[in-house]
Amino acid sequence: MLLLCSLLYFLVTSIQAQANTLPRDEGKFLCLIYLSVQIPSDLNALIEIAKELGKMDWNFDLNPCDGDWNSSLKDNSQFNNSVVCGNCSPGGVCHVVEIVIKGQNLAGVLPPSLAKLPSIHKIDLSFNYLNGTIPPQWASTKLDFLILENNMFSGVIPAELGKLTNLSKLVLSANNLTGKLPEELNLLTNLIELRISSNNFSGKIPNLGNCIKLQQL
Ligand SMILES: *[C@@H]1O[C@H](CO)[C@@H](O)[C@H](O)[C@H]1NC(C)=O
Ligand SMILES: *[C@@H]1O[C@H](CO)[C@@H](O)[C@H](O)[C@H]1NC(C)=O
Ligand SMILES: *[C@@H]1O[C@H](CO)[C@@H](O)[C@H](O)[C@H]1NC(C)=O
Ligand SMILES: *[C@@H]1O[C@H](CO)[C@@H](O)[C@H](O)[C@H]1NC(C)=O
Ligand SMILES: *[C@@H]1O[C@H](CO)[C@@H](O)[C@H](O)[C@H]1NC(C)=O
Ligand SMILES: *[C@@H]1O[C@H](CO)[C@@H](O)[C@H](O)[C@H]1NC(C)=O
Repeated sequence: MLLLCSLLYFLVTSIQAQANTLPRDEGKFLCLIYLSVQIPSDLNALIEIAKELGKMDWNFDLNPCDGDWNSSLKDNSQFNNSVVCGNCSPGGVCHVVEIVIKGQNLAGVLPPSLAKLPSIHKIDLSFNYLNGTIPPQWASTKLDFLILENNMFSGVIPAELGKLTNLSKLVLSANNLTGKLPEELNLLTNLIELRISSNNFSGKIPNLGNCIKLQQL
């Protein structure tokens, strides 16, 4: 165990030295977290996600799965700061299943690295100042909630999102998205809520005849 830990510590510090992301001495904390609760790949993905979002206050000395990263400091329905873990193995190793970061003035981009979290199923980044485009990489996730309202996203809705067949809630309103809505939205047969208003789409709304559960448009 100790040997494994030393090896991980060495690996982490050498990776950090290359990537220059975190102070070196955080390596040993990362190592402890690796060995206790979290899957290393999830933790590495979170480090990348933080960078992409511009989320500076995640403390990698603490274990995200202990709920240490949750806070509800503001009494405001537009604020939330939660990372939720689940899908744990019998050995107590867990995965990140939800990331909800609302109303925090984040000014980064949508994190392509989200696709590196194998169990992520809910992402809510609404009420920030995030820009850029929706990463097609997300099509490989198992998202059922994708909520991005009130940011500054541009570009088209990638046709690849049609692969997210478990999506029940897709909220993209109040951004600066453009182009035609992809026909592939009709593949989202579990969709209950679809909100896309206050953007700059062109063309017709595609046939959504297969989205038989749709209640809100
Ligand atoms: C904080 O995270 C923990 C662990 O994932 C979770 O059990 C708890 O419900 C969360 N609390 C809030 C307020 O989101
Ligand atoms: C914040 O998000 C977490 C994770 O999805 C959720 O459990 C919690 O209910 C939310 N809190 C509020 C006040 O909406
Ligand atoms: C996103 O915002 C940053 C500054 O915050 C800017 O440099 C960048 O060009 C913007 N990207 C897009 C696609 O608008
Ligand atoms: C949909 O959800 C089920 C159950 O969680 C999962 O087994 C399946 O892989 C998911 N499929 C997609 C495309 O997300
Ligand atoms: C939306 O994008 C267009 C260019 O595609 C740009 O001219 C306009 O300023 C943007 N609007 C906002 C509110 O960001
Ligand atoms: C919508 O898009 C058109 C064409 O790209 C552009 O001229 C217009 O400024 C955009 N409107 C807004 C509100 O961004």
